[in-house]
Amino acid sequence: MKNKKYYITTPLYYVNGEPHIGHAYTTILADVLARYQRMFGKDVHFLTGLDEHGQKVADAAKALKITPQQHCDSMAVIWKLAWEKLNIQYDDLIRTTEVRHTKVVSDILTRLYDKGDIYLKEYEGWYSVFEEQYFTEKDLIDGNDPIGGRPVELRREDNYFFRLSKYQDWLIEHYQDKSLVVPETRLNEVKGFLRNEVRDLCISRPKSRLSWGVPIPWDNEFVTWVWFDALINYYSATISPPDGSVVSWPVDYHLIGKDILTTHAVYWPAMLHAAGIETPSKILAHGWWMGKEGGKISKSSKEVVNPLDLAERYGADQLRYALIREMTVGQDSSYNEESILNRINVDLANDLGNLYSRLAKVWQTGGFSPTKVLTEAPDGIPEELDEQKQVLQYHVQFEIERVRPNVAIEHIFNTVRGLNKLIEQVKPWKAVKTDPDSIVDILTWALGALGEIAKMLSPVMPNKMADLQEWLYDDSGRIDPTPGKQLFPRMKLVSKSEPKKSDPKKSAKSSASDDTIITFDEFGKVDLRAGKILSASKHPDADKLLLLQVDVGSDQRQVVSGIAKSYAPEDLIGKCVIIVVNLKPAKIRGEKSSGMLLASGDGDSLKVAFLDDDVIPGSKVH
Ligand code: MSP
Repeated sequence: MKNKKYYITTPLYYVNGEPHIGHAYTTILADVLARYQRMFGKDVHFLTGLDEHGQKVADAAKALKITPQQHCDSMAVIWKLAWEKLNIQYDDLIRTTEVRHTKVVSDILTRLYDKGDIYLKEYEGWYSVFEEQYFTEKDLIDGNDPIGGRPVELRREDNYFFRLSKYQDWLIEHYQDKSLVVPETRLNEVKGFLRNEVRDLCISRPKSRLSWGVPIPWDNEFVTWVWFDALINYYSATISPPDGSVVSWPVDYHLIGKDILTTHAVYWPAMLHAAGIETPSKILAHGWWMGKEGGKISKSSKEVVNPLDLAERYGADQLRYALIREMTVGQDSSYNEESILNRINVDLANDLGNLYSRLAKVWQTGGFSPTKVLTEAPDGIPEELDEQKQVLQYHVQFEIERVRPNVAIEHIFNTVRGLNKLIEQVKPWKAVKTDPDSIVDILTWALGALGEIAKMLSPVMPNKMADLQEWLYDDSGRIDPTPGKQLFPRMKLVSKSEPKKSDPKKSAKSSASDDTIITFDEFGKVDLRAGKILSASKHPDADKLLLLQVDVGSDQRQVVSGIAKSYAPEDLIGKCVIIVVNLKPAKIRGEKSSGMLLASGDGDSLKVAFLDDDVIPGSKVH
């Protein structure tokens, strides 16, 4: 179809609860993909929404002594605010209580009823009040509902059914097309489901049991089952989007968690096919964020992670980056705040943030004037790095088409690291003092490459990358970096209690062999950096201590070190040492110490581990 919009959706979240990290992830992922597609020139329509019917909503409203609609309205504000705080740029947010939706639900129900695909039948089954759903004897696990393991009761009632069984063969045929569900493991799950007998779907609830729902148009006694109602949103939203635009059907990408695969990959296409409506192009079912104890993070799990608290603490863009970087789409991922923080401090503050501040600082020292972006790499730029920069957009686009944003980010950060390596080799802070002309082209090119990186990362971190681009260029689009700006401050873990103090009974002189074994991951948390000692002096009242002022790249800080018996202050100035930079600052004999210097030996004969004087402050020590 001409001018077909690229139509991408998230699930419609249950309005009753507050957004947690799982909901935030799907929505951020959809937003990131939508922004990338916009950047690649597609006319995107990004839909999210709220699932507002169901007995739980009615019960919650009753407890609050308000109407269900009032309850939905006030909860909808919370959800919308959450998306605003997480920089979600959706085109439409549909609520299942809107008339534009309920009308379409009624239309489709009537269409299917007239066609004979919906019929009334007495039904007996095991009903879970919590899941608001019937199960057959076979479905039950140890006599309880198979979803949450909660008690069920035998009930008998009349209900309307959708002839899902009639579409089993069509569905089997439909899924010959492998591209319809990704990743393939999920497609296989769907195929597995279809290999068993598919039964007709109960799609109504008596009003006595479900007071808050879309009425069955021809029978006043019943309302529509929430899922039959909610799924249709994706279609109703195209009929009258709020801005009046025409959103062309079908959906290009339904983004969902793997928990709702059957509803989306079996019920939904069958419903559409029965109604004579084209089916979606693709469903992407991602995995779950798992809690510490291994279970899925959910409203009712012990560990509920509030994305807004995290965004408040670490920044919305930083959180977006870390979540997208940490999860391989399709697989489960264990949620761990330390890893999130590590991403923020290592990738963003050290690798990307430092790159900008270092380049901007040298530019300022050189007093260079605004310069046009270089299209060709000047002498001194390694061919490999130039190539990496040139194919960056291609790689990013390639991975985004395959919904592998974490891999796209990996490519981008390889280029960031390549640039860091380049400037560590070129050492522009030296040359700028002696022969600034010799490095202006290299600097201009590196800053241009950073501009490209900012562009490529902007769908993930829209606000931060807009800042970076603004600082990099002047109003006419020339390279002219603003110095003294810190893009990503280093963060500390806020939510958790402080780490336990080490066991005082353990000897400080423990040998290598009786030390606790640590994992690579644990070691990875120790951030070792090259630091240049700018000045050194004796501690005013401790003869073993020196006060060192150290440049660690991202900042200058004081480190108090017990090496006064082994080194005179003047021997240390200008030397490059190894500093543990992510150590919690401490007061040592009244002086603040932010970090620790690596040295060997003990007592009065300590040997500091020196690095080559040429090493750039802030470089990572591996
Ligand atoms: N209302 C239904 C969906 C109807 S769509 C027509 C629903 N809502 S929900 O509020 O429970 O949201 C479920 C979705 O939230 C999942 O499919 C997934 O996108 C996201 N997540 C909820 N918990 C999650 C994790 N622990 N991890 C990752 N995402 C998960 O189901």
